[in-house]
Amino acid sequence: MKSVKNLPLTNKCHHWTHLGEVPWDLQKYWQQRYTIFPYYDDGIYMTEDAWYGVTPEPVAIRLVYDLVGFISADTRTVIDMFAGVGGNAISLAMATEEDGFTPRFEKVIAIEVDDATLACAQNNAAIYGVADRIIWVLGDSFEFLKLLIKSPDQLGEDLRVDIATTAIFASPPWGGPGYRTDEIFDLATMEPYNLAALHEAYKIMDHALYLPRTSDLRQIAKLVPEGAKIDVVQYCVEGASKAMVAYIPATDKKKSCRIADQPTS
Ligand SMILES: C[S@@+](CC[C@H](N)C(=O)[O-])C[C@H]1O[C@@H](n2cnc3c(N)ncnc32)[C@H](O)[C@@H]1O
Repeated sequence: MKSVKNLPLTNKCHHWTHLGEVPWDLQKYWQQRYTIFPYYDDGIYMTEDAWYGVTPEPVAIRLVYDLVGFISADTRTVIDMFAGVGGNAISLAMATEEDGFTPRFEKVIAIEVDDATLACAQNNAAIYGVADRIIWVLGDSFEFLKLLIKSPDQLGEDLRVDIATTAIFASPPWGGPGYRTDEIFDLATMEPYNLAALHEAYKIMDHALYLPRTSDLRQIAKLVPEGAKIDVVQYCVEGASKAMVAYIPATDKKKSCRIADQPTS
């Protein structure tokens, strides 16, 4: 697996400027375009699906602030497992130390399985001046993680990061029955990746999961590592919660270092 730069925008990538161009079911999202991306008019591109799942910029910025508070100072790499059109990756790449200048993360790796969506993300990051600060991967982020842990030699050199100083951010699709209608969303039914699958894949690293606002806290509480705690934060825009993020510490940091140190097969 290798990083990719400058993917071309395809006919699935849109920059709509008039309501008349927007499919009716996306019009309410397009009306919120300046909340989602304040620089929308500078040439932000989206796929149709991306409108449903993109993280609005005010949430993404606040979330980075909280993520930085959650991880240790020596965590210098962050992996965005579901990059989408870049809503989170851009804010992660723009984060600085308190001097307002030094990047907080030495590496931001952004992984997205859909080529048109990743092309939009690269275009959007360029608008914010951070496209070259992000290492982009077109592919399955679970596959990436497997290689990182077991066979890092099968990854491009820029992707071989030290697991012990890496954190994960994941905003998975929220498909499945009930996310919009259930009072409490059963994270076991989230599709295509449920809470157990996400946690199993990420547990050797500190990870932040961006989940539906009504997610079942009891299911998240079961993931608390021995002697640790999980912070859960609701992120609101104009008084309405957009999402809940669970900040989950690595199950065993020492173990994660040992796994990373194992010789590769
Ligand atoms: C909710 S969206 C992420 C939105 C993103 N945070 C943003 O602000 O634009 C989820 C994204 O994950 C992608 N995706 C789904 N499965 C994936 C996988 N296994 N590896 C990488 N990306 C995946 C989808 O194509 C979709 O773009």
